[in-house]
Amino acid sequence: MKITDSVLYVGVNDREIDLFEGQYLVPKGMSYNSYAIIDEKIAIMDSVDARFGEEWLSNIRLALGDRAPDYLIVQHMEPDHSANVTLFAQAYPDALIVASQKAFTMMKNFFGVDYAERRIIVGEGSSLSLGRRNLTFLTAPMVHWPEVIMTFDETEGLLFSADAFGKFGALDADEPWLDEARRYYIGIVGKYGAQVSALLAKAGKLPIRGICPLHGPALFEDLPFYLSRYAAWAGYEPEEEGVLVAYTSIYGNTRRAAEAIAEALLARGVKVSLRDLARCDMAAAVADAFRFDRTVLATTTYNNALFPHMNEFIRHLTERGFKRRRIALIENGSWAPAAAKLMREALMECKELDFAETQIRILSAPTAETFLAISALADELTER
Ligand code: FEO
Repeated sequence: MKITDSVLYVGVNDREIDLFEGQYLVPKGMSYNSYAIIDEKIAIMDSVDARFGEEWLSNIRLALGDRAPDYLIVQHMEPDHSANVTLFAQAYPDALIVASQKAFTMMKNFFGVDYAERRIIVGEGSSLSLGRRNLTFLTAPMVHWPEVIMTFDETEGLLFSADAFGKFGALDADEPWLDEARRYYIGIVGKYGAQVSALLAKAGKLPIRGICPLHGPALFEDLPFYLSRYAAWAGYEPEEEGVLVAYTSIYGNTRRAAEAIAEALLARGVKVSLRDLARCDMAAAVADAFRFDRTVLATTTYNNALFPHMNEFIRHLTERGFKRRRIALIENGSWAPAAAKLMREALMECKELDFAETQIRILSAPTAETFLAISALADELTER
């Protein structure tokens, strides 16, 4: 597959994987992207997941014909991209390995070798000539490991962006970029907004014509749109107006309250995502919390603590630096309700949260009074 006349796709699709990074549901698979930049010299950009080494080498052979690569540029050492570095090094013994110093240290730890005799160490501003074109390197620490570099092809204006701008889903997945790119970003990189913002500032100075990430499609059209999404996510700004109603319910009573607030908000013209945290994809619920400007949390006390799925959900938010959102709380308890207090405490480390004054307490089952309070909460959450 051609990315441009001289940049060919040599990556693979993984349609067998169930959990990416051992935790993220990927019903439409994953792509592990690798590119061949063909010039007087040839550079291969990153390898692929361990299970696809032979397919990847076969793709390289098909793309290059009777030529051999001169360089393997290792931008990121997470094994979904680096697992076949050793296979490449054996297949192409004359090729040099190009990576950051930290990446070579990781190679020693992962593979027992650091290619001291055949390596080029690059850092911020380093460059590598392939003949007619020049590659320059940017460091991108914690996007999303510390050793990451990105590569800018000055001639074609292509940014090889490592994990940034990737998405879940194989390349032939029939779905728009945004939802799965958001779930991927918030899940995997969400904690590192400051580092992503620093990267965007550097990248903003480059004449980028296209972005070639390590997952998902290469991006050429409407680059300002993709950059604006990343700017919002990295800045922890809500992406759009709307409310996530995230709840847990043991016997359906808290669910009735959650559904009631969702309906009340919808009736007021608000976009709503209603998520049962025990049954939904937790990563999608977390992504929704970052997407919208308001979140309603509804849960019960359990073992004198928060119900486990709500506890886990809030921990995902705090780990990722969730902030600058409006929050409303609904608690349910049959004898000593404490969930609202516990949710507030669990969210304490999140900055700039604005809690709604209307806080709802259900004692076992919602009553007419509860539904009046839900209506008042819907008004409060939609007032300007
Ligand atoms: Fe796609 Fe951080 O690896």
